[in-house]
Amino acid sequence: MQISEQRIKIAIQKSGRLADHSRDLLERCGLKVTQSKDQLFCYGENMPIDLLLVRDDDIPGLVSDDVCDLGIVGFNVCNEKKLSLRRNGKEALFKQVYALDFGHCRLAIAAPDGVDFNGLESLNGTRIATSYVESLRAFLDENNIQAEIEYFSGAVEIAPLLGKADFICDLVSTGKTLAANHLKEVHTVFESEAVIIQTQAPLEDAKQELIERMLQRLDGVLRARESKYIMLHAPRSALAQIIDLLPGSEYPTVIPLEGDGEKVAIHSVCREDVFWETLENLKKAGASSLLVLPVEKMLV
Ligand code: PRP
Ligand code: ZN
Repeated sequence: MQISEQRIKIAIQKSGRLADHSRDLLERCGLKVTQSKDQLFCYGENMPIDLLLVRDDDIPGLVSDDVCDLGIVGFNVCNEKKLSLRRNGKEALFKQVYALDFGHCRLAIAAPDGVDFNGLESLNGTRIATSYVESLRAFLDENNIQAEIEYFSGAVEIAPLLGKADFICDLVSTGKTLAANHLKEVHTVFESEAVIIQTQAPLEDAKQELIERMLQRLDGVLRARESKYIMLHAPRSALAQIIDLLPGSEYPTVIPLEGDGEKVAIHSVCREDVFWETLENLKKAGASSLLVLPVEKMLV
């Protein structure tokens, strides 16, 4: 399949923690794709947007080199790439344009169970294994700690067991990997989540407009995920109190009920979750026939 210059290319993770979520998100934005036989490329059927399925570590480089216009990748990977380019006297030519609120994890220092850790000074004179060499180096420098960095490309968590390191510095999401290897988290280096990055190379107007449209749709998808549509009946006399109780709702719609002069229907989008307690309080205030519905898309 030919990759055209006129189409937007988005690099996403082929497999791993961000892969499914990244594709799902783009599909929710209306993109329909067909996957190539080698499964490395997805052709956008209904929009001039194609996906390149790659290793997450390669994404910042592909966007920086303008091979792809956009990338969906962990902040942790971007940060490491930025620092390693800088070490080689180069600037990263990508910018973060959106934080996606999924793929939350953190880069953390962990110690074998039973090892004493009394603050960051405990790291002085130790060996720390990591695949995030530059992020760790920056962190140690900032905190004036002298420690040796042992590079591991993977399976960092076995380094202490092999006698190769005293501590490790690795990504932690659920904490299962650490627990399985008898390690405990002792310090967070930074928090991370999935982000969208864009090349700093200037794009044609049509491309830039399409990117902005996609970002607006993404915003709509993410806002909708947190929002609920609530419908209820209420006596006119309790209107003010009930509107006060509706979480994160600015301008509710109030509709008269045919044949009932006393009651109205209230419809409102709540920009946060609606909990059982809220419904119970609304009922106490006189509301009835309460319905809470998920919101699928939102454009504001
Ligand atoms: C990270 C990290 C751990 C694991 C931690 O690897 O290196 O192995 O995830 O996750 P947990 O706390 O939920 O157990 P990742 O899956 O990102 O793979 P990669 O570094 O090879 O991209
Ligand atoms: Zn990776």
